[in-house]
Parts: sequence; C-alpha cells; structure tokens
Amino acid sequence: MTSAAAFDRQIPDTAARKVEFISLSHLNPSTELDPIPTRGIDLAYFRTYVRALEEGGYDYTLLPYGAGGADSFVVASAVGQLTERIKPIVALRPNTTFPLVGAQKLATLDQLTEGRAVVHLISGGSDAEQARQGDYLPKDRRYARTSEYIDLLRRAWTEPAPFGHEGEFYRFDDFGPGFAPYDAPIPISLGGQSDEAFRVGGEKADIFSFWGEPLDDLTAEIDRVHAIARAAGRTTLPRIWVTFRPIIAKTDELAWKKAHEYVARIADTFGKSAYGRQSFLKGTPQNVGSQRALSFADKADLYDRALWTRTAAVTNAAGASTALVGSPETVAAAILDYVDRGADLVSIRGYDTLADAVDYGRHILPLVRQEIAHREATGRRGTLQADHLGNYTEDYRRHATADHR
Ligand SMILES: Cc1cc2nc3c(=O)[nH]c(=O)nc-3n(C[C@H](O)[C@H](O)[C@H](O)COP(=O)(O)O)c2cc1C
Repeated sequence: MTSAAAFDRQIPDTAARKVEFISLSHLNPSTELDPIPTRGIDLAYFRTYVRALEEGGYDYTLLPYGAGGADSFVVASAVGQLTERIKPIVALRPNTTFPLVGAQKLATLDQLTEGRAVVHLISGGSDAEQARQGDYLPKDRRYARTSEYIDLLRRAWTEPAPFGHEGEFYRFDDFGPGFAPYDAPIPISLGGQSDEAFRVGGEKADIFSFWGEPLDDLTAEIDRVHAIARAAGRTTLPRIWVTFRPIIAKTDELAWKKAHEYVARIADTFGKSAYGRQSFLKGTPQNVGSQRALSFADKADLYDRALWTRTAAVTNAAGASTALVGSPETVAAAILDYVDRGADLVSIRGYDTLADAVDYGRHILPLVRQEIAHREATGRRGTLQADHLGNYTEDYRRHATADHR
C-alpha cells in the first residue's frame, strides 16, 4: 500500500467500530531516557500521572507486575481512589496469588471502583524471573495453570452455592459463594504470544494483548486467536489490545529528530545502567512477543506507515518497545491502520512518560476519536489516513533516515 488512493473512503470490514485507550501508570519520574536511581513510589508524581491519564481521556491504566516492583493490586486500588472514571488493569501472575484469593481481591477492587476492575493475566515470560518468587513450572505448564485459574476466577465470581475443586494445580473444598464483583464479571485479559498463550487466550480470555507489530503480521495473529475462539464455540471473540511507544512532535521531521536522539539515550541507559544488569536483557528472551519484536527489528527499521523497531533492538525488546514515529496526525493515522485490522484497545505510552501522556491526551486521542465519530456518523472514512501517509511517502523516509547527529 503506497499511495493515498489505497486509503479510500471505504471502511474495511475488519475495522473496530469503537476504540478505547490504555496507558501504563508510572510510579515515579524515572524513565528509560533519564533513569533515576529509585525503585520507590513518588506519591506526588504518581497522583499527577494518574490524574493526567484521567483528564487526558484515557479509558484504562495498566499496573504492571514484576518480582522486584510495587504490588499491582495495592497500586490499582490507589488508582481507583484517585480517579472517577479510568479503569485499573491489574497485571497478575497466577503463581503469586491463589485463584480464590485473586478473585476476592479483584472483586474487592471492582466494588471499590464501582465496576472498573480489569485483570491482565501473565503466565511468565522468563523462567529466571518466575523462579525469583518460587515458581519453577516450565512455560507450557504455567499456561495450563493460567487456564485453570481463569475458570476458577469466573466460578468464584458467579457460583451461587459452595463448591469444591480438584484440578491439576489447585484443590479446595466447600468454597463460596465468594465475594462478588460490583455488577458484572470482571474482564480477563491475557498477555503472551506463544502457542500456549494463543490456545488459552483464544479459548477463554475476554481480551488478548499484543505489542505493536507490522500490520500484516499482527493481522495474522488476530486471525489466529479469533480462529481458536471460534473453534472453541465462542460467539463473543476476544477483544484485541495492541501496545505502542509513540514518539511525536509537531511535524514528522521534528519527530524523527527526537526519535534518533531518544534511541541513543535509551541505548545508553540499557547499556550501562541498572536496566542493563537485569538478566532478561541478556541473550535471547524466552518470551515469544520479545523474540518476534527482535526479528522484526533484524529485518527492517521501519514498517508500514510509522512503525519503528530501533527502540526494540536497543532494549532487547524487553517489554513494550516498538515505536510509532511522526506528527500527531501521522501517529493517529497509524493507530487507525491497526483499528482497521480489528484492534479496539490501543495502549500508548511514551518514553518521556508523563509529558507524553499529557501530549497524547491532547493531540492523539482526539484525532482518533474524531475519525471514529466521523465513521459512525457517515459510514465512511475521514481523510486523516489519506492525508498523513508517513512512510508511504519519500519525504517521510528521508527524515527517518537523515543523519541527525
Ligand atoms: C500488553 C502486555 C502487558 C504485559 N505486562 C506484563 C507485566 O506487567 N509483567 C510481566 O511480567 N509480563 C508482562 N507481559 C509479558 C507477557 O505476559 C509474557 O511475556 C508472557 O507471559 C509469556 O510470553 P509468551 O507466551 O509470549 O512466551 C505483558 C505482555 C503484554 C502483551
């Protein structure tokens, strides 16, 4: 697809009709650009950050989980009390919390936030990281455990009478009825891209999440998870969440200057700071999402309208690491390309974390929402994608490859 003509007024059949925005919450001002030696919570900063997401119009915020990080449940509860609208997504590793206790904590969060709780189940992408908290199961068994965990969460939230269970990983007697969510079952999201992740997510998850990949590759992955869901007899398919790290400026040219400066600073941070001493940054990552990101980065720096992989290459694709680079219009158009392929939950988090969260709220969310509203009202695409072609033009490619030193 190389010309404006390819972005005609026809809305693709696969396009999501509604889009919601996610951003991960940061607890202190340390960033990959300017790391500061702290592992703690800066309460004033955290309050400001969460308020910026609420005021910026985001719909959800992810509270990530790591063995050495803050507890995602406690942080999610704080998010709930600091906001009125935004939905906290608790990243939860099943090995850390017995399923009935997980169900109870999530239901409590859901009641405390009047129905805003979401859970993101993480089966664990690194054996070494799992072992830090006593989990020695191999990855395929961890996914089997996640599958049993999902069934138990749902039963704990809905069974009207006491029940017992004797499964491969969990056993208990006479539980229930459990503490119920606010009004409806809590959405269950799944992260991971191994075959096991697809199987469990396709069969059971309400939301299946990805890191940003080239459009055709992501489309194949969406088709794959939806095919598994259909084969399992599901009539409601998992929603699709895709994550990017946008780098924006007033024009594409300025955004590229910033991108090249950023990637040098990020490489520096990962090369010699505490980030670089983490074992998951050395060698080939065990999780498939990171392996895929690195293989895309090996093949090309730039894909589609604005997807940039250098940020993945210099971080060993640890966590979400693929960027979208350009003006707000170009990046919003690139997001819409993914919406056209079926993504309906878009996570965006910048490298200059708080400033970017504010900027995206002002400049990106409204553009995407305006286009969605236009489509809803007219049944046709607006002109944003045809007018801001990014990498489908010579000019953009020139800025992307210019020597910015
Ligand atoms: C959107 C998203 C968010 C994630 N958040 C976390 C997190 O907070 N903590 C964590 O350990 N892993 C997180 N992961 C990583 C995956 O869940 C992990 O790599 C997976 O359990 C195993 O990966 P695999 O199935 O691709 O091999 C996240 C993944 C995605 C796609």
